[in-house]
Amino acid sequence: MVTDSDKVEVALGARSYPIYIGSNLLANSEIYRRHIPSSQVMVVSNETVAPLYLRQLTAALDGFRVESVILPDGEQYKTLEIWNRIFDRLLQKQFNRQCTIIALGGGVVGDMAGFAAASYQRGVNFIQVPTTLLAQVDSSVGGKTGVNHALGKNMIGAFYQPRCVLADIATLETLDQRQLSAGIAEVIKYGLINDAEFFVWLEAHMDALLTREHTALAHAIGRSCRDKAAVVAADEKEAGKRALLNLGHTFGHAIETGTGYGHWLHGEAVAAGICMAADLSCRLGWLSAGEQARIIALIRRAGLPVAPPPEIDHSRFLSLMGVDKKVVNGKLRLVLMKAIGESLITDAFDAKELDNTLNGYVGQPN
Ligand code: NAD
Ligand code: GLY
Repeated sequence: MVTDSDKVEVALGARSYPIYIGSNLLANSEIYRRHIPSSQVMVVSNETVAPLYLRQLTAALDGFRVESVILPDGEQYKTLEIWNRIFDRLLQKQFNRQCTIIALGGGVVGDMAGFAAASYQRGVNFIQVPTTLLAQVDSSVGGKTGVNHALGKNMIGAFYQPRCVLADIATLETLDQRQLSAGIAEVIKYGLINDAEFFVWLEAHMDALLTREHTALAHAIGRSCRDKAAVVAADEKEAGKRALLNLGHTFGHAIETGTGYGHWLHGEAVAAGICMAADLSCRLGWLSAGEQARIIALIRRAGLPVAPPPEIDHSRFLSLMGVDKKVVNGKLRLVLMKAIGESLITDAFDAKELDNTLNGYVGQPN
């Protein structure tokens, strides 16, 4: 049965859009019709997701002229070179400025398809159909799109909002457990940023999430999207508070880049990064040891790493942290925690304590 169980609004004036959350939404033709203005539809997916869900999506798009481009699967393919294949296909099929691009897949597909939508003929209609937990709670919401460069992750891209997001919980049934856990890392992040009540809910419902109980997943996705939508509505282009959404990400990006894209999952790197941010926050006397222990325990229960890999040494870790969009005027800014549910963006920390945090981790087993 098709349900339309939850709807979260991202309030951005004329560019506001809904996030639909529910089971079997993929087949909901009515939603697509509401948000697609002309007949040309290009679905961007990858070689793993397309065999699972492309037929279902295409059936729901009955009456449209649907074409597709299937990309190779993996973070290592999130490059300008592979991205160009989307334009090859759009131009071969003579798609015009009224066309709609639909991203069907996880965050890699969503970021690449969104950046293509932002760029093709200077911007065309875009719809996100995220199929990983991470994409449903984070990457499909808020308009960050882009690709990686060999010298830095997500370094080339644009802010470009979709017309709607359609998060079908049923698609998570085919996701492997490691990917599910990676998505839970971003869910935990929202609790830590400014939603202590949600963090407590996660402590009580982690098992239900790991066994994919639909009601628990629906609650976690809805709450995460509401939390993110509120931040994005207040600061769409990351002039200030949106950087809070990068809790754990400066450490995490160092792990992802230092190990080579594709070895550590983004959510895994964020999980270890959150533990490192908690360690530093605790050393600074901001977060209590008890709260740090609760954070580590929840991340561990989610099946996620709580420390970085030993192969990135101290100085390389620091230099990788410097190649990050959060460096302003040569000063490293980090998202740290005063408490569970109270994060801040700051450069006002003693660099020696960051050294101590890195000393505590480098060389330690996961
Ligand atoms: P991903 O897109 O690589 O997907 C993970 C894996 O799951 C892939 O192998 C994919 O093919 C497979 N998959 C997807 N849906 C599936 C399903 N329903 N069933 C079975 N397999 C499925 O990774 P991700 O974790 O979704 O996204 C990570 C990417 O998102 C990174 O590139 C990161 O930089 C980006 N990101 C962007 C934002 C943003 O705001 N734009 C936020 C967070 C992360
Ligand atoms: N994932 C961080 C952001 O959307 O800003």
